[in-house]
This record gives sequence, structure tokens and C-alpha cells, in this order.
Amino acid sequence: MRNEKIEEIKIAEDGVNPQEVPQRTLYDGDKIPAIGMGTFGSDTYTAVEIANAVKGAASVGYRHFDCAPIYENEKEVGNSFQEIMKAGIAREELWITSKLWNDSHGKGNVIPACKQSLQDLQLDYLDLYLIHWPFPNHHEPGVEEDWRDPDAVPYNHDLYMETWQQLEKLKKKGLVKHIGTSNMTIPKLELLLRDADVKPECNEMELHPHFQQPELFNYCKKNDIVPIGYAPIGSPSRPDRDKTENDTVDIEDPLIVEIAENHDVHPAVICVKWAVQRGQVPIPFSIYRNKYLSNIKAAVEDPLSEEEMKAIAGIDIGCRLIKGQVFLWEGAEDWRELWDLDGKIPG
Ligand SMILES: NC(=O)c1ccc[n+]([C@@H]2O[C@H](COP(=O)([O-])OP(=O)(O)OC[C@H]3O[C@@H](n4cnc5c(N)ncnc54)[C@H](OP(=O)(O)O)[C@@H]3O)[C@@H](O)[C@H]2O)c1
Repeated sequence: MRNEKIEEIKIAEDGVNPQEVPQRTLYDGDKIPAIGMGTFGSDTYTAVEIANAVKGAASVGYRHFDCAPIYENEKEVGNSFQEIMKAGIAREELWITSKLWNDSHGKGNVIPACKQSLQDLQLDYLDLYLIHWPFPNHHEPGVEEDWRDPDAVPYNHDLYMETWQQLEKLKKKGLVKHIGTSNMTIPKLELLLRDADVKPECNEMELHPHFQQPELFNYCKKNDIVPIGYAPIGSPSRPDRDKTENDTVDIEDPLIVEIAENHDVHPAVICVKWAVQRGQVPIPFSIYRNKYLSNIKAAVEDPLSEEEMKAIAGIDIGCRLIKGQVFLWEGAEDWRELWDLDGKIPG
């Protein structure tokens, strides 16, 4: 019985051959699969549901998984990785990312936090380790949007560099193959590129048709940083704390809906196609097989035309969905202060 289950992981008939999934090249020549599977759903789905989806995703061709301890499922997802590898998929075929949570910035905390993720995920190394947010401001999982960490502080470059140097150490020790950033801005990346011994290899950032971040996207490309796009479908089931009345819905955009009708797919699939063809690495999430299967198929079949790509480039309305307000410090006016909108870092 168990063997049958494991067998399934290797050979889903309707799946995608992982070797046909495009890849992006990091500046050291290593390759990252051009689409991954997100694993954040802890406000809606159980850890076991998400871990089962990880197994299912491997069985339809995913080899790249985006994890984080704050998603509260690394242990369960780790069990799935064990099963996947027992089923004959070699560790080297997988790309596994995890992230340093905000409560573990600074000199003494980074290496233990990474080792904890490795232990939970049951791995000897991570393919990519990211600093999840550039602020050491903590929130418990599932807090309301007006929750504030009383010890929250604005961006502090010295502390960020202390943290980054620990990531550099992790890479030297071989516990992680690549290091990168998440939720960064151009001003913060400028400082990091100025001061880092090991330059960031990837930057995970919110990217979807209504939030294309062209300046940051181009900045990453220019500096050989691979952009990984989170919320690629516009995160329709994100937690309520991340919703405001001005937010728009990518999968209801008339252009996305029209292109989806022409391709006979769900509008979500068009968002994924656009992301892969633009050159970012989308990491869509769903626990449902039909959805994660259509997302990986989006990366390998029936591409969008040049006109469609151009038309989608025209619907960017700068609608940031994951505003990060729970990371604000006392005295900060609103979430815009997290994103250095006038080109300056507050604090
Ligand atoms: N670095 C960061 O700070 C950060 C922040 C946010 C997210 N992330 C990562 O990015 C991943 C993706 O972001 P996300 O989950 O917020 O947003 P998303 O992938 O844009 O949206 C996920 C939702 O879209 C729906 N969906 C997925 N595929 C679909 C399809 N083919 N057809 C119809 N609906 C579909 C799913 O609905 P159902 O639930 O109904 O299936 C799912 O809940 C996360 O899981 C996490 O790994 C990172």
C-alpha cells in the first residue's frame, strides 16, 4: 500500500516532466526551476493538508518548494520531502527554499534558526535561504492587522548586515547553497550590494499583473538577482489582515478574464503564464490538485503571445496586497513607510 503511494509520486500520467520546466540561472551558474510551489496557507489550511499537497505537487512535476518556519508546517512538509526522496526523487533534483523569520535577526540567532528549519524539513542543506523581511519585527502567526510589536524598529542597516553575514557563514559551511532577500526595496538592496561579501542571488517579492514592480524587477535583473514572485495570482485567499477595500483582484481583471477565455483556462493560469514568460519565478499556492497541476502546466504549454504579454504589462496599477502593516514601529504613519516609496529609508 505504502509502496503504491510512493510509486505515485514518480509517475503521474497527467503530470509535467520536470525536465521540461524552464529554469532560471543564478549568477554562479546554478539553476532554479522557473516555477515553485508556495506553502503558506496556515490561516486556512492545516499543515497536513499543505504537506499532502507538496507530495501531490512532486507527483505532477514540481521540484521547487517555497517554505518558511512562520508557515508553521515545516515538520509536516519535511515528512513529505522524506517520502518524495524515498520514492526515488534525488535530493539534488529538488530546490527547497526556507526563510529566516523576523525574531531571529542578529548575530547569535541566524545559524540556530536555519538549523531548526533543516531539522524540521529533515534536510542536510537548503537550496536557498532568505531573510524573510528586512525588519526584526516579530508577529505571532495569525494576528489581526492592527497588532503591533511594541519593540518594533525601522530598518537598521547595521543589524541587517550582521544578519546577512550569518547567511554568508551558512553558505560557507554548506548548510545553504544560495542566499537571498525578500520584501526588499531598491534603496535597501543598494546598501546590501555595497556592503555584502556574497551578493544576494535571489529576491523574493510580491509580483502579479496588478503589481508588477517594474523598477525593482529591472533592478534585480540588472544586478543578476533572480526575482522570485510571491502572490502570483494576487493571493485571493490571503488572510483578512492583508485585505483593504482598495485592493483589486487580478483574476477578475477584464483583460485577464478575456485572455483566459481565449486560452480556455482559469484566469489564475494566465497570471502564472505571464509571470514565467516575463522572467520571474512564480511560487503559486494551492492544496487542490487540479489547481497546482494547471499552474505547473502553465509553465510548459500554450504560451501567451507577444501582444498578450504587452497587454498584461499595461494593467499594472501598483496594487500592493501584502502591505506588511504588522511590522510597523511606534510612530510610523502607515505601511507605505516599509517600502521606501520616496527612495529614502525612514529611521
Ligand atoms: N516572502 C514573503 O514574504 C511571502 C509573502 C507571501 C507569500 N509568500 C509565498 O508565496 C506563495 C504564494 O503566495 P500566496 O499563496 O499568498 O498567493 P497566490 O499563489 O497568488 O494565491 C493562492 C490562492 O490562489 C488560488 N489558486 C491557486 N491556483 C489556482 C488556480 N489554478 N485556479 C484558481 N485558483 C487558484 C488558491 O485558492 P484555493 O485556496 O481555493 O486553492 C490559493 O489560495 C505562498 O504560499 C508563500 O510560499 C511569500
